[in-house]
Amino acid sequence: MSASMLRSLRTTSAVCVVLGVTASAAFSQAGDDEVSKGHVLAVRICSICHLAAPDQATKPLLNPPGPSFESIAQRPGLTADALEKFITTAHRGLDNPKGMPNPDLAPYQVKQAAAYIMSLRK
Ligand code: HEC
Repeated sequence: MSASMLRSLRTTSAVCVVLGVTASAAFSQAGDDEVSKGHVLAVRICSICHLAAPDQATKPLLNPPGPSFESIAQRPGLTADALEKFITTAHRGLDNPKGMPNPDLAPYQVKQAAAYIMSLRK
């Protein structure tokens, strides 16, 4: 094996160690994975109507937009259960013409979205 190959192998394993440490830190807290998946989901699906995340690439198309997720997260007494209930029962219709259309998420996505919104609580 050449010296340069050895060097690059050493660098690779150092990078692996660093990545391994970061990954285990990221998953050490229960629910972090749900939160980060919920973040991705919110930016993809909810951001056309809400300011779903401070880092979303474009502003909501809905004008005026729905409440920002950050502001929803600060509501006193908010729980993940209440969020999940809203997300699964949201509907727009003659009885609720300005309501939120049901996003039709799978149950695991509802949990991820609620976990993400709860994580924005300060
Ligand atoms: C087509 C537009 C639209 C999309 C897409 C959308 N929302 Fe909404 N959302 C609204 C509007 C409008 C409101 C405010 C009216 C209402 O409360 O029904 C709202 C309100 C909410 C509320 C606050 C309810 C309350 O108690 O006041 C939550 C939580 C919420 N949305 C979550 C989500 C999540 C999570 C997604 C993505 C999975 C999403 N929304 C996608 C339009 C949308």
